[in-house]
Amino acid sequence: MKYENIFIEHEKGIATLIINRPTKLNALNKATIHELHHAFYALETNAEVKVIVLTGSGEKAFVAGADISEFANFSVEEGTQLAKQGQELLFDFVENLKTPVIAAINGFALGGGLELAMACHFRVASDNAKMGLPEVSLGVIPGYGGTQRLPQLVGKGRAMEMIMTAGVINAEEAKTYGLVNHVVPQTELAALCYGIGQKIMKNSPVAISEAIKAINANFKDGVDGFETEIKAFGKCFGTEDFREGTTAFLEKRKAEFKGN
Ligand code: COA
Repeated sequence: MKYENIFIEHEKGIATLIINRPTKLNALNKATIHELHHAFYALETNAEVKVIVLTGSGEKAFVAGADISEFANFSVEEGTQLAKQGQELLFDFVENLKTPVIAAINGFALGGGLELAMACHFRVASDNAKMGLPEVSLGVIPGYGGTQRLPQLVGKGRAMEMIMTAGVINAEEAKTYGLVNHVVPQTELAALCYGIGQKIMKNSPVAISEAIKAINANFKDGVDGFETEIKAFGKCFGTEDFREGTTAFLEKRKAEFKGN
């Protein structure tokens, strides 16, 4: 697939996926959502890629939201489909990837932009980042999972206030809320992600993907997270990575994980 709204950079096992519509502050239109789905799938199935970093091009925005110009005239049915398809194609898809995905929030992450960052496995931000779910100021609510993931990350009361006031918080507030893990100057954001990526890559890819599944199970209705953990834990015992990890420890050497 030829991408028009995104591009990908590779550096030693870390793929950086960059949303590239700078004149629209990287707003998520339909085409970008499809391209992101395709790119995430391609990266997930590329054995060379151990960590994915998602960010926006330019210095101003991660993603300033869903593209308002695309849905301004939508009907009830079209609005419902917009949320459903978006959640399936991108937001739930990213959350359930086996490969770790870090959101590098390099500026505005509003509406669908913050929802996309929240679908990633964790978030880091530059100190100019601004985050919020301002949908009620447009007469609509978050539709890409924001009403579910924001309370999971910051608690119900803070989520209620942020969504009701359409408020925007800065990077330090987001860190206090637990919405982002680290805040650094923008010039240091890529290096921070690379450093975290390097730490992740030292560990077993199979175990990491099982850990993602087990952690996500805690937030899924009708799924017993403890039961998921037991099964995932047991599954690890049948892997080459487990044999290598335990053998390397006993032999007092560094493990060389193959990811199987
Ligand atoms: N959808 C579509 N276009 C968007 C957009 C969005 N969510 N966010 C920004 N843009 C476009 C603007 O329309 C403008 O395009 P134009 O130059 O063709 O007019 C361009 O991006 C630059 O944005 P602009 O508003 O001029 O920049 P700013 O620095 O004055 O303001 C924001 C930045 C982020 C505060 C402002 O763009 C904004 O409020 N965006 C919408 C945020 C939002 O409500 N998101 C939730 C959507 S569900």
